[in-house]
Amino acid sequence: MSYDFNEAKEHVVNSYGRLDLILTHGEGVYLYDQDENKYLDFTSGIGVSSLGYGHEKWVKATSNQLKTLAHTSNIFHTEPSLKLAKELTEKANMSKVFFANSGAEANEGSIKLARKYSYDKYGAGRSKILTLIQSFHGRTITTLKATGQEKFHKYFYPFTEGFDYVKANDIEDFKAKLTDDVCAIMLEAIQGEGGVIPLDTKFVQEVVKACNEKDVLVIFDEVQCGIGRTGKMFGYNNFNVEADIVSVAKGLGAGLPIGGILCSSKVADVFKPGDHGSTFGANPVVCSGALVVLEEICNEQYFEKIYKRGLFVRELIDEAKNPQIVDVRGMGLMIGIKVKCDPALVQKEAIKKGLLVLTAGKDVVRLLPPLTITEKELKVGIDIILEILSSLK
Ligand SMILES: Cc1ncc(COP(=O)(O)O)c(C=O)c1O
Repeated sequence: MSYDFNEAKEHVVNSYGRLDLILTHGEGVYLYDQDENKYLDFTSGIGVSSLGYGHEKWVKATSNQLKTLAHTSNIFHTEPSLKLAKELTEKANMSKVFFANSGAEANEGSIKLARKYSYDKYGAGRSKILTLIQSFHGRTITTLKATGQEKFHKYFYPFTEGFDYVKANDIEDFKAKLTDDVCAIMLEAIQGEGGVIPLDTKFVQEVVKACNEKDVLVIFDEVQCGIGRTGKMFGYNNFNVEADIVSVAKGLGAGLPIGGILCSSKVADVFKPGDHGSTFGANPVVCSGALVVLEEICNEQYFEKIYKRGLFVRELIDEAKNPQIVDVRGMGLMIGIKVKCDPALVQKEAIKKGLLVLTAGKDVVRLLPPLTITEKELKVGIDIILEILSSLK
């Protein structure tokens, strides 16, 4: 008797606006559904599957580690987690790392870290965190409140106190909100969920300078735009500034759950035993996979490739001069196409043509393909999007 997947769906909490596909396997940059339909993937599991699907080295590393040692608690070290800590902090130019399991958890820990740094140095009351309007930082009670979008601040009261929101790229608004009770600012170099909106270099540089002067910590949320996605190690590396704390997740795991709080030397020793923890954090299987991501993606040569592929996509779209397209933005392989029509419609039509894309907000088609994608594969997908947009004229 065949399995009744439709009945099984009734047992899943209905918290996502899900597309009606049941995916079964993946290979390279392609995903397949139950009926063996093939899809070119411009979503990479929302920026996670940076190496695509079935990447030989990643599969070998993780499956070997699975056979050797799948889990220990954090009262012990493991070889993969120590190697990853060393490699990641070196490539990130940071001092230490705390490993967690998700972006929200990394941000939650970053907020704790910033507040403790301030408490240790200045005492209670200097605990406010600034974030940007249109930002997205996660789904826990604290990171929802850190998220600068009103639509997320409902139902779940009381939220964590101590957040204020600055208009992105508005230095006067930032200065007005940089009061004496502020201990940190958290920024996405490119706001992903908020609509693929890159910050202005001048704004970021002025913010960092003002923060440094007041010993206000600068936290970059690199969960979506980090680990090579923009053609640099981190999105914020495009602005020529330094961070005090960097949160990472998604693409570092390449398909397994990971989060990380990268600490500069200023905050590296703020957490003492008992201050923070996570049972699954630093899981050796996950860390062995992340080491492959660093090896394969995180080098100057590969960053250059990602950057160029981003330019290639932009040229293809610009050349088409499609009247449905209002704007193309982003960096590297984090691309937002602002459209006049409903992006959800483009997403649905694309599925029919064998392409998976994301949306962001009400007017952006968001592309986060695996970082291993070729120009040829990118062209196939972009042609599909352009064809759909032309048919909507
Ligand atoms: C910038 C940013 N921060 C945090 C998160 C939350 O990450 P997670 O879903 O792994 O908790 C996301 C997720 O989309 C994100 O894009």
